[in-house]
Amino acid sequence: MLQLFLPFSELIYQKHTQEYGKIFKSHFGPQFVVSIADRDMVAQVLRSEGRAPQRANMESWQEYRDLRGRATGLISAEGEQWLKMRSVLRQKILKPKDVAIYSGGVNEVITDLIKRIYTLRSQGEDGETVTNVNNLFFKYSMEGVATILYECRLGCLENNVPQQTVEYIEALELMFSMFKTTMYAGAIPRWLRPFIPKPWREFCRSWDGLFKFSQIHVDNKLKSIQSQLDQGEEVNGGLLTYLLVSKELTLEEIYANMTEMLLAGVDTTSFTLSWAIYMLAKHPEVQQRVYEEIIDKLGKDQAPVARDVPKLPLIRAVLKETLRLYPVLPGNGRVTQKDLIVGGYLIPKGTQLALCHYTTSYSEENFPMANEFRPERWLRKDNLDRVDNFGSIPFGYGIRSCIGKRVAELEIHLALIQLLQNFEIKISPKTEPVHAKTHGLLTPGGSINVRFSDRK
Ligand code: HEM
Repeated sequence: MLQLFLPFSELIYQKHTQEYGKIFKSHFGPQFVVSIADRDMVAQVLRSEGRAPQRANMESWQEYRDLRGRATGLISAEGEQWLKMRSVLRQKILKPKDVAIYSGGVNEVITDLIKRIYTLRSQGEDGETVTNVNNLFFKYSMEGVATILYECRLGCLENNVPQQTVEYIEALELMFSMFKTTMYAGAIPRWLRPFIPKPWREFCRSWDGLFKFSQIHVDNKLKSIQSQLDQGEEVNGGLLTYLLVSKELTLEEIYANMTEMLLAGVDTTSFTLSWAIYMLAKHPEVQQRVYEEIIDKLGKDQAPVARDVPKLPLIRAVLKETLRLYPVLPGNGRVTQKDLIVGGYLIPKGTQLALCHYTTSYSEENFPMANEFRPERWLRKDNLDRVDNFGSIPFGYGIRSCIGKRVAELEIHLALIQLLQNFEIKISPKTEPVHAKTHGLLTPGGSINVRFSDRK
């Protein structure tokens, strides 16, 4: 997915920003890219968008879909096609109140996450450590997002993960482990494919796996709706039920959107949760303040629901600060749809822009003491439209911003609250300092090993 957002390593952008300034042009193969690493210029570009912004050239995704007779989903669609799908999907998952109804389902997944932590830590030498928490949070995120998207459980947090789910995870891993290669799948001209067949072959193979998995779950839901209708029962449910019953999207469009949303919703959420836990473990004084707020507003044993989250501004600030320091998609893209003048330069229509929010997130002008984890800085900055908030836009901005933002927030807020209610979180002495690594996504460059000590 991530070739859309960032044609090459964000660390290179940071270096180039130091050398060439806040707006510069570079070449990426035959294409040139204008990079913008300035909060006000980014705000200008995003605020002047038209009704169907384009993120990047999606030819390779489109080609796969044409080859297999598949539809495009929200990530890969453009123009009127994208507008139609976005206007259907946005009604159901874009507002906090739309996703609030999933609190119960997400909390069931969190109960399983906590059980899993008990099992895993009992296997550790000290009875408290879980090594490489991202593996665990990957399973949590996949289970959580599937509960919302497919309205069913996958069994990711069980001792024996079902075979279908294992196969899906393999396809997903292939998509990401082959990231560098698949990124070039589109860049390699077709005539070269017989000589360098692997990238394109792997690209198609991983998409086949992802589509297959979604289709199984969408078809299951369709069958269960049909049998309810046959028995004259009323059909109620979440997003997928709505899509299948309302028929506002075709079945192929539903497959494509479920596939692309699941792809977009697993690693993003799990890396962010891993970083948040790492930050809380490294900053026990912040963790203590967040814990006290939870105890004060909610108590130790009450499972939170979505409407409790606004009462806990520090939890929200922890997530914002984590995403400022570790924006899982470190940059974003736009293809200009009209000529623009930015920073005194004329940028012609059709130019690929790279909006470098990883760089602007670390600017001292935007965030004093930018290298430090200080969630309190967010406590009075709630209005997303303020120019100073454009320094950190981890979910993008505007009409083409992340449609899963509220889903991710729900999964992360509720999990963090319950983890802190149950455990004091400490870094295991075996953990070396973990730095971010860009692999398309900004990922933890080492294993985060965490001690989950029972709260007294
Ligand atoms: C911490 C978690 C997440 C982060 C940081 C994140 C970040 C982003 C970003 C930066 C974009 C591009 C926005 C733009 O171009 O302005 C995006 C797009 C998208 N995200 Fe997320 N995302 C997350 C979780 C999710 C989840 C859970 C889902 C699905 C349930 C999801 C589905 C999508 C989709 C479908 C798009 C494309 C939207 C469109 O083109 O209309 N994301 N995300």
